[in-house]
Amino acid sequence: DPTVFKFYSDGEWKRSTSGKLVSIINPTTRKTQYKVQACTQEEVNKIIEAAKTAQKSWAKTPLWKRAELLHKAAAILKEHRAPIAECLVKEIAKPAKDAVTEVVRSGDLVSYCAEEGVRILGEGKFLVSDSFPGNERTKYCLTSKIPLGVVLAIPPFNYPVNLAVSKIAPALIAGNSIVLKPPTQGAVAALHMVHCFHLAGFPKGLISCVTGKGSEIGDFLTMHPGVSCISFTGGDTGIAISKKAGMIPLQMELGGKDACIILEDGDLDLAAANIIKGGFSYSGQRCTAVKVILIMESVADTLVEKVKAKVAKLTVGPPEDDCDITPVVTESSANFIEGLVMDAKQKGATFCQEYKREGNLIWPLLLDNVRPDMRIAWEEPFGPVLPVIRINSIEEAIHHSNASNFGLQGCIFTRDINKAILISDAMETGTVQINSAPARGPDHFPFQGLKDSGIGSQGITNSINMMTKIKSTVINLP
Ligand code: G3H
Repeated sequence: DPTVFKFYSDGEWKRSTSGKLVSIINPTTRKTQYKVQACTQEEVNKIIEAAKTAQKSWAKTPLWKRAELLHKAAAILKEHRAPIAECLVKEIAKPAKDAVTEVVRSGDLVSYCAEEGVRILGEGKFLVSDSFPGNERTKYCLTSKIPLGVVLAIPPFNYPVNLAVSKIAPALIAGNSIVLKPPTQGAVAALHMVHCFHLAGFPKGLISCVTGKGSEIGDFLTMHPGVSCISFTGGDTGIAISKKAGMIPLQMELGGKDACIILEDGDLDLAAANIIKGGFSYSGQRCTAVKVILIMESVADTLVEKVKAKVAKLTVGPPEDDCDITPVVTESSANFIEGLVMDAKQKGATFCQEYKREGNLIWPLLLDNVRPDMRIAWEEPFGPVLPVIRINSIEEAIHHSNASNFGLQGCIFTRDINKAILISDAMETGTVQINSAPARGPDHFPFQGLKDSGIGSQGITNSINMMTKIKSTVINLP
């Protein structure tokens, strides 16, 4: 059956001994598109054992050789962009062009990681003792970066390939092994990406991909004593994982409620264009999507009109046709979004468009005059619905943004750089963008969230460093 996919363990493709499969529902047709193996805890144990063994010799493989393999994998990944993108279209309804972009961006990320790795891991530090009071120059300290061991990578459905390689490549270049648990929606795209690493010729057991139900293997994986580091991107589950995980480094990115603050002197055309890109690309299913607009009352009518005009031009339909707005990932997600919309309706928000839904497909919707008592003011819809809150002062904007439990990114539109910097300093978010929509990339930039948006910092350099430990050797002179 060409719609059933095996999992990847010890360099081989296998069927699970459970005999069970997990269905992947195409968000557009709402029919089963593919099936993946429902792996067992015993299979997880074997994978982690193999990963531990493979890591030992991988850590001794010269850095330039590790980089060479990653460059090879990156090239193969790019060659396979069309079939992988097709999976993304079918599994997560990503618009066709964006799906290709995701794969190409992933190849670039892997190559950059290899280059960055050879540089930052290729140098250590040398310290001498006499800078600290009471010491003579009798101790020389040499430091280098060593791998952690087995890195568990758990990417989310919205970037099953890109947010997988953003964990895999730093882990591998740093000398770690990888156990990947892809999201169910997106698992086949992830398996295909793993196939590219397989073709590149990485040692057996170094990379594995385990599929299955979170209820069966989720906690088992994240609490496994063989795991030395977890890199997770997703929702609330991350908070639960961080409570259960042992004393290991965690890298977590758990969503956001990114505010777009627009001042009176802001370029409203630029702001409107960025609101469309930031709020509606991939139908709002990005942690860095613009999720609330905070606009000065005096320019609010003008901005809302500009955004409305652009919303009217968005194409709505299947991802195969490369529409701007495509069905959201699951029916339960669509129901959740609808719940937020209905709550806003009941509490008197102004609907700039009529609310429309067919199956998982929700038409883009701008909600004006949203007030703090509405759920949409605080919760992330992860869909094409964008609230507008009218404000009367910069303080009000900062207050709303900081009252969120999230703290991923934010953006400010103003021509006054001094004001922009002051607001940026006051915003409790990991990144603030001045005159552009929030975004993770370019992928070597640091990427981090405060509060419930996460732990640690990502971006290529930070991820490599995070997946290593400092080792020192001290030479004691007579
Ligand atoms: O969904 C979370 C991603 O990290 C966002 O990445 O800003 O490139 O869409 P992006």
